[in-house]
This record gives sequence, structure tokens and C-alpha cells, in this order.
Amino acid sequence: MLAIGLMSGTSLDGIDAALIETDGEAEVRAIAFRGEPYSDAAREQLAAATALALTFDRPRQSPDIVAAGELIDRAHALAVHKLLRDAGVAAADVAVIGYHGQTIAHRPDRGWTWQIGSGDTLARATGITTVSDLRSADVAAGGQGAPLLPVYHAALVADLAKPVAVLNLGGVGNITYVGADGSLIAFDTGPANGLIDSWVEAESGARYDAEGALAAAGRVDETVLTAMLDHPYFDAPPPKSLDRNDFIIQPARGLAAADGAATLTAFTAATVAEALTLLPERPRQLIVAGGGRHNPTLLRMIGERTGLTPVASDTLGWNGDAMEAEGFAYMAVRTLKGLPISFPGTTGVPAAMPGGVVSRI
Ligand SMILES: Nc1ncnc2c1ncn2[C@@H]1O[C@H](COP(=O)(O)OP(=O)(O)O)[C@@H](O)[C@H]1O
Ligand SMILES: [Mg+2]
Repeated sequence: MLAIGLMSGTSLDGIDAALIETDGEAEVRAIAFRGEPYSDAAREQLAAATALALTFDRPRQSPDIVAAGELIDRAHALAVHKLLRDAGVAAADVAVIGYHGQTIAHRPDRGWTWQIGSGDTLARATGITTVSDLRSADVAAGGQGAPLLPVYHAALVADLAKPVAVLNLGGVGNITYVGADGSLIAFDTGPANGLIDSWVEAESGARYDAEGALAAAGRVDETVLTAMLDHPYFDAPPPKSLDRNDFIIQPARGLAAADGAATLTAFTAATVAEALTLLPERPRQLIVAGGGRHNPTLLRMIGERTGLTPVASDTLGWNGDAMEAEGFAYMAVRTLKGLPISFPGTTGVPAAMPGGVVSRI
């Protein structure tokens, strides 16, 4: 089937839209990709909705969140139209859209996770059957609702030597481990780019530490780093997942701009090293995807702290900016076919289960 996947990550950098051909099982072929950045105004509106949702005990509608959801729907519909135009593919030829939506709060501990964006609205706007709300069923069944893409990663790495790990460095980081016996373990490692972005934005107004230049010019403050790593999350066994706002830059406050960037970058690298200690075996290869792989300082520090040389997914032929969007296209096809999308080893759900809500046209 032809399937479109749409991802808008917690970095709030923009929408990733991918078109793939897949059977939702072993076959995956990437066809087209486009990244659609958010305007500063859109980004601020989404950040405000996220800050508001963080104060809620449970999801409930409020005018600002409704407006943010409408923005998300409009921006995603436009991204689909542009993707189809780029690819020269008609909407009628696409079987399904996997519409992740925007996470404004992730609270599996309170029994919910909240992605805004309406599958019904997107299906109407595009004329394509849409699968949305891919995390809620898992959380309702006692899972973490994240990470969801390990089964997709497992399909990608099928031919590689095991054990192997795929590390996605988004606003939050997550790792997928595929063992020699095919076992699948996955969890969020810690904040990946999230704290670095927040720091750089507060210090200079830039959206991120381009090429890790600021961090490269700084010195890691080991005292601050040690204090930040002294958190129960890192020793806790998987399954486990994080909200983008579970960690804050406060401990680095007072450091010079470059030293703070270096320290927070080292923190992300150290959390990856901590994550590796929770795996049954050391992976032979650490494949890196997501925006963080564009940060050479972060990759260098991950190398130093893990003793593994991170390999960009692109080296293996997988566009690391597109992988999450492609993954949600794959999940949507699995949902149409009634296949499970979450598993005990990945979200902690008691048994492998399907998920997602289908909006048919
Ligand atoms: N050239 C770059 N240099 C350093 N960091 C980068 C670069 N490009 C992207 N990033 C980082 O990647 C992040 C976006 O990663 P992404 O995988 O899209 O995360 P999410 O899934 O949370 O949206 C940016 O916020 C930034 O921190
Ligand atoms: Mg993104």
C-alpha cells in the first residue's frame, strides 16, 4: 500500500511528512519526504498550548487548545498536499495516512497521553483514510504509549547483525534494541535535543545549537552534570517514557552560555550511556536518527560516553529526518491490517495490541 506518515515532534520544529510503500510487515520502501517548518507564530501558539496542558489533571478542551488543534490540522493538510504534489501521486492512490498529531502532554502515570489533531478533520481535508490517536489505547491498557516505532525499526534492521540499537534523537530521545533472538526492547532515554534547544533559545534566541558549535566552545560542568544524572529515571528498568518537560534547564542556570550548552549536550550523551547499561547485551551498532544526528558535538560526546561509534541512519540508506514520519505511515498500515503496534517490551503493555483510531472517508 501507499501510505503517508505525519509527525510533529516535541521540538516543535515542524511537520515531517513521508510517503512510503509498505505491507506493514517486512516490506518498506521510502518514496518521498518533506519537512515543513512551523512559523515562529505557530511555534509559539503550540508551545503555549503545551504549557497549558501541562497544568491539567486530565485532557479537557479549552479555547487555546482547540485553536492549537485547528492549527495542527490545517498545517498537516497542507503538508499532505505539498507531499503529494512533490511525489506526483494522487490522493486517491494513497491507502492511508498515519497522523501522529502534536503531543501537548504525555502523562502515562496519570493514565493518559494527549496528542492534538483530528483524524476526522484530516481525512475530510485530504480525502484519505486517516489513522490517528495511536498512543491512547496502549496507555489505557496500562502501557507507556511510547515508544511506538520499535516494530518499524525492527523491520528496517532485519538484515543487520544483532544485537543492534536504533537511537532517535528528537526533543526526547528513545532507543530501540533488537536482540539476536529478535527480542524487542525500547524506552525513552532522556531529553535529547529538548534541553539544549531550551538553553540556546534562552541564551541567544536561536532555535537550536546549530552544528553543536556553542557546546563545542564550552566546558562541561561535571558538578552540574552529576547532579542532573542523579535522577531515578535513569536507573529505572524499562518500560518507561518521558514528557518533553520532565527535565528542565534550571540546574545549568548561572553557567556561561557555551558551558551550559556543553553541559546539557553531555547530559544527553550521558543518558544514552545510561540507557545502554539497561540493555541485555551491548549492541554491535548504534544507529542514530532524528535531528540530533545533525549535531556533531552531541555525536562526539555520545561516542566518548558509550564507547560506540554512532552511525547516522543515512549511512544505511534511511533518511534520519524522515524515519519517524515513515514509521507512522507503517503503523497506519498495520492498524488497517489489524496488526499489533505496541508490545510488552516496548511500551510495557501486558500483551501485544493494535491501536489507533481509523477515520474513513
Ligand atoms: N544542524 C543542526 N545542528 C544541531 N542540531 C540540530 C540541527 N538540525 C536539527 N537539530 C536538532 O534537531 C531537533 C529536531 O529534531 P527532530 O528529530 O525533528 O525532533 P522532534 O521529533 O522532537 O521534532 C532540533 O530542535 C535541533 O535541536
Ligand atoms: Mg521535528
